[in-house]
Amino acid sequence: MTQPFVTTTIRGTLYDYPKYYDLVFGVGSSAECDGCFDRHADRRVRRLFEPACGSGRLFVKFADRGFQVFGYDLNRASVDYCNDRFKRRGLPRSAIFGDIVEVSLPSKVDAAFNMISSFQLLPTERAAENHLRSMAANVAKGGVYILGLHLKPSRGAPIHSERWAATRGRLSVVSRIWTKQTHSRQREVLCGMISDIRTPRAFVRIIAELRFRTYSASQIQRLFDKVDEFQPVATYDFTYDLMNPISVGPETPDVVYVLHRR
Ligand SMILES: C[S@@+](CC[C@H](N)C(=O)[O-])C[C@H]1O[C@@H](n2cnc3c(N)ncnc32)[C@H](O)[C@@H]1O
Repeated sequence: MTQPFVTTTIRGTLYDYPKYYDLVFGVGSSAECDGCFDRHADRRVRRLFEPACGSGRLFVKFADRGFQVFGYDLNRASVDYCNDRFKRRGLPRSAIFGDIVEVSLPSKVDAAFNMISSFQLLPTERAAENHLRSMAANVAKGGVYILGLHLKPSRGAPIHSERWAATRGRLSVVSRIWTKQTHSRQREVLCGMISDIRTPRAFVRIIAELRFRTYSASQIQRLFDKVDEFQPVATYDFTYDLMNPISVGPETPDVVYVLHRR
């Protein structure tokens, strides 16, 4: 007897389903950070930390290449998913359930990276500043923190929607993210996110909302100025082309900052 096709709608977050998150956002490569480590760190980079590591899509790739890695995340399903990946590789459980506002690693790392705007999930200026301070306490001198974020352009149109799609075998995931509301005074953008997961037997729709804190180029610079231990030494766009560092201005839409630990 053929099984019925099941359709389900879930109001929640894709972070609770790291297998699907990992498929649809798993296009990035760990190689993009390496050049930044080589060029900007004054120490050999072997030990890495990813705050808000999510499903571990990036930091597992670093582990595969021989780096010692640690991650922090506040989503239990993601932390368990990461650690299961490490277990399958015979590596220690390296993802820690914890808030990136107060990071406390067993020992300092040589470099850290936080690539796709997770930093902007920190809801307040104080949380962001505390995050940077605790990162500075956990990155060894001469090391780097690579921080990617979407800036709020003071002129020109901000990006209003993104679509991500990926297929593996008979599983496909499509995620759409769009701006629902902008609260300029509170420096907050409310985004809708719908993820459609299809297999031959089922269709699952996950409906989520995400709140991002916004930063203009000058607002993020003012925040960096408060944390003396980190000096911004280079800026790139999301292509990480090290031959083409960018200058950040009022219209820059997204940027990767290299923060050097003094
Ligand atoms: C967009 S995902 C990014 C995951 C991963 N960095 C990547 O590049 O795929 C954002 C992650 O941030 C985590 N997160 C949000 N706020 C956090 C906090 N205060 N402390 C730790 N993790 C947090 C979420 O649970 C989620 O897994």
